[in-house]
Amino acid sequence: MSNNIEKLKEEIRLKVEEALTKEELEIIRNNYLSKKGEFAKLMASMKDLPNEEKPAFGKLVNEAKTLIELILLDKLSIIKDKLLEEKLNNEKIDITVKGDKFSLGTIHPLNQVIEDLEDFFIAMGYEVKEGPEVELDLYNFEMMNFSEGHPARDMQDTFYVEDKVLLRTHTSPVQARTMLDSKNNPVKIICPGKTYRRDEDDLTHSHQFMQIEGLVIDKNISFANLKDTLLRMVRHLFGEKREIRVRPSYFPFVEPGVEVDVVVNNNDGTKRYIEVLGAGLIHPEVLRMGGYDPKEFSGFAFGIGVERIAMLKYNVEDIRNFYLNDLRFLQQFKGDLS
Ligand code: PHE
Repeated sequence: MSNNIEKLKEEIRLKVEEALTKEELEIIRNNYLSKKGEFAKLMASMKDLPNEEKPAFGKLVNEAKTLIELILLDKLSIIKDKLLEEKLNNEKIDITVKGDKFSLGTIHPLNQVIEDLEDFFIAMGYEVKEGPEVELDLYNFEMMNFSEGHPARDMQDTFYVEDKVLLRTHTSPVQARTMLDSKNNPVKIICPGKTYRRDEDDLTHSHQFMQIEGLVIDKNISFANLKDTLLRMVRHLFGEKREIRVRPSYFPFVEPGVEVDVVVNNNDGTKRYIEVLGAGLIHPEVLRMGGYDPKEFSGFAFGIGVERIAMLKYNVEDIRNFYLNDLRFLQQFKGDLS
């Protein structure tokens, strides 16, 4: 009888050794260890043994069962380890494989000019403001001293959303909004943004373009302060030796009003003058409408043409290049993306 046990043990050991899956182990366990399994049969056959042999035989059977359990458990953990290893191998990331390359964009040249000038003005104590592109006639024209029917309105025709609601023709309405918000306190702001006019597009004009408005209000602001600020800005952009030309001009919201040209030296010794901005001292009527007493406060304002600056700085001849999103054009302006 004990020989039978040994044979059974050996048989099982071999089968377990050959088993490759959890399912196969389960079948072995069922065949040998379940209630109808081979060991149960052995136990049943015990009734035929003489009584004095029964305890020893029972012990042998139980020891064999325990051993088989251990063998099965052992093999199960080997199979599980193997499965895990296979899974890990399949999921392994090969960091030496060449990845997809994402090309990094560049900052648009107009934004490069704006960011550069923001840094410049912030360093001089200015705050950066924003204003709506869909603007009220009230701020775009009325409070900028273009009363209804004023002839200067003709130069700034625009796109109307409703009778008195329009796409702003300049960033100057932010002057009016800022004055009303600042309630008789000194002001020192710039405001970059998009502006619109009903212009025919050509080399130097676009129906949509960008400006940076500047507004300073305080006591005793003079034209010298304005000129100094603008000269510093031009020299920041175009080098310490650059000259400007200041020409009288007319804008209803300043008095006196000027246009500022950057002087460009031609190769043949002659000079060219490129207009880059309008400016002036705030008109007393505009101060009054904004809630300031012109006897106490004075100020200056300027409106920089961002495209003009960018065209000069980067030698761009056709303003429309800025809006076409042609990568061959844009990638020439690497800029600092950090
Ligand atoms: N808003 C004027 C324009 O767009 C420019 C300007 C701004 C002039 C501020 C004077 C003062 O033409």
